[in-house]
Amino acid sequence: MSDYSLLILPGDGIGPEVMAEVRKVIGWFQTNRGMRFDVSEDLVGGAAYDKHGKPLADETMAKAQQVDAVLLGAVGGPKYDNLDFSLKPERGLLRLRKEMDLYANLRPAQCFDALADFSSLKRNIVAGLDILIVRELTSGVYFGEPRGIHDDNNNPENEGGRVGINTQRYTSGEIRRVARAAFELAKKRGNKVCSMEKANVMESGILWREEVQWVHDNEFPDVELSHMYADNGAMQLVRNPRQFDVIVTDNLFGDILSDAAAMLTGSLGMLPSASLGAPMDNGRPKALYEPVHGSAPDIAGQGKANPIACILSFAMALRYSFNEGQAADDLEKAVEKVLADGVRTADLMGPEGGTPVSTSEMGDKITEALSRA
Ligand code: NAD
Ligand code: IPM
Ligand code: MN
Repeated sequence: MSDYSLLILPGDGIGPEVMAEVRKVIGWFQTNRGMRFDVSEDLVGGAAYDKHGKPLADETMAKAQQVDAVLLGAVGGPKYDNLDFSLKPERGLLRLRKEMDLYANLRPAQCFDALADFSSLKRNIVAGLDILIVRELTSGVYFGEPRGIHDDNNNPENEGGRVGINTQRYTSGEIRRVARAAFELAKKRGNKVCSMEKANVMESGILWREEVQWVHDNEFPDVELSHMYADNGAMQLVRNPRQFDVIVTDNLFGDILSDAAAMLTGSLGMLPSASLGAPMDNGRPKALYEPVHGSAPDIAGQGKANPIACILSFAMALRYSFNEGQAADDLEKAVEKVLADGVRTADLMGPEGGTPVSTSEMGDKITEALSRA
């Protein structure tokens, strides 16, 4: 009888490369900590399209609904760029998020001291940084209707004759539940939430601001809450990122702000994420864990990818799905130790250069560091 069931979806590009290193870490916890994982593996994205003609098979979707946690590598790549929209690799990932109703996407950005000189910002701006972006993940302009590309027949003024439509739509309930998640998380950290939208130009932004404030006033009056327009938020993130503790924002702003936050940590290859939904019968939240980065076609197949984002995503699974907080801490410390030892993949090479390790060597070093702990 296994303690934890885990569905691994390596996906495309560097996805399978970084996932191979997570497998080593899972093996380490099985051998050394007696954790029992029931691991199954399946296809998503371009890999699923190649086999099934669609980016996520229904059987895979059903499996994802049943396991304690899903771990995903990355999807997408130039080979699939010209596919029909509904068949694109990214649709597989979006279907998982939507059908599992994973509304709270936690994207922590922490700057490990050893990497403070590798950020594109100065050390004194990023050293000690520890922020958490909570991105709404199942609604907003990613999913709103109407959407599509249509002929704009009755408009002779429109050169080209077409119109592309997406709709930013949020219900109060959708805003309240992600706000609640952000406040709960803030209580366990710095007790501060900054909500970002564009209430100055969007009605959905006005609703966002009012509902976040409502949740604060009625349920979390002791957590400090501020509101910021998202464009100013982007500027503040690079001006003085340590002013933030938890940032809560919508699906699209969260996507963009979290990539920006990635560079505060040294590399996009460092940023993990957890996408959480409502609790299942066993009390664990529906959950999918994935690095924030994509399939990195420019470096795929070369052993250059940094596996840390994916390994830290597994640490988040240990913490949020398996209630193994100590193991999660140990894994994060092992990563920190390896970085402090000067071990670097190519994306973490500063201007002064050095010799990078491969994806696989980085995975080995991290499991060795776990053994030394
Ligand atoms: P990307 O994140 O794949 O790559 C951006 C840059 O960061 C590239 O230069 C890449 O080499 C580098 N990079 C990313 N991860 C890295 C890692 N672990 N180690 C070292 N370097 C790393 O973004 P993109 O190039 O805009 O998109 C490529 C494909 O990935 C697209 O098809 C896109 O839709 C998809 N994508 C998927 C996800 C996901 O699966 N969650 C996320 C973002 C993008
Ligand atoms: C991410 C990615 C995805 C997103 C894509 C691949 C659908 O950029 O997870 O950050 O836009 O949400
Ligand atoms: Mn993104």
